Amino acid sequence: MVLTGAGVSAESGLPTFRDANGLWEHHAIEAVASPEGFAADPALVWRFYSQRRAGALTCAPNAGHRALAEVETQLGERFLLATQNVDGLHARAGSQRLVEVHGNLFRTRCSACSRPPFEDQAQYLSSLPRCDRCHGLLRPDIVWFGEMLNPAHLKRVEAFLAHPAPRTVFLAVGTSGVVYPAAGWVQLAKEYGAETWLVNAEAADNGAHFDTFVCAKSAEVLPDLLLGA
Ligand code: OAD
Repeated sequence: MVLTGAGVSAESGLPTFRDANGLWEHHAIEAVASPEGFAADPALVWRFYSQRRAGALTCAPNAGHRALAEVETQLGERFLLATQNVDGLHARAGSQRLVEVHGNLFRTRCSACSRPPFEDQAQYLSSLPRCDRCHGLLRPDIVWFGEMLNPAHLKRVEAFLAHPAPRTVFLAVGTSGVVYPAAGWVQLAKEYGAETWLVNAEAADNGAHFDTFVCAKSAEVLPDLLLGA
């Protein structure tokens, strides 16, 4: 079981949350990544996500994403990847057993009706997009601050960790261990008897719960660590 955060995409050229000091063009991230922020200024929120779409499209998966996709082909159903990233790079690298717990930058949904989310790479800079079913405002399919994670996603991760196996390894990569519930999965994994590993460029907030800490950049060490390449 692997959990990734923004650090795994850093070597693809995408800044992490910490790099950006929680700010975008002087706005607190919470102002552009929350239901309250969207209600107050949807045009600002779409400008932020349009820029992020453009930025992610110019980046490519790195050796860390590729190693995770490769190890999945070896382990099959014995592998699960949960990511807090919304950049879509794991899927582009070929990962399939993938849970995007914070949503996906390249999906849009209606803020008003139950129309299913749809694939969308568009940038909305001049006018606000509206739902063609109910005319409500469309929004990015991202889990914002203060919103609930999809219960089916949580269940999938927890069921995977609970499933008995001769040896389970929980590996967290490129995440500061600040945002829950993902930051708590290492403890859950330990309760179920897993070995716990952290690969991160610096100490993480929940670092005390890991058996082994590899202080390194993910694209540099994951190929070796996962594939012995
Ligand atoms: P952070 O930006 O909080 O943390 C990224 C971590 O990756 C830091 O500890 C860095 O030291 C480390 N790092 C940077 N470059 C690295 C590299 N090349 N290899 C390995 N590690 C590296 O990002 P997340 O932990 O992903 O939530 O943040 C978690 C959530 O907080 C995000 O999903 C977002 C934010 O609030 C939502 O948007 C809901």
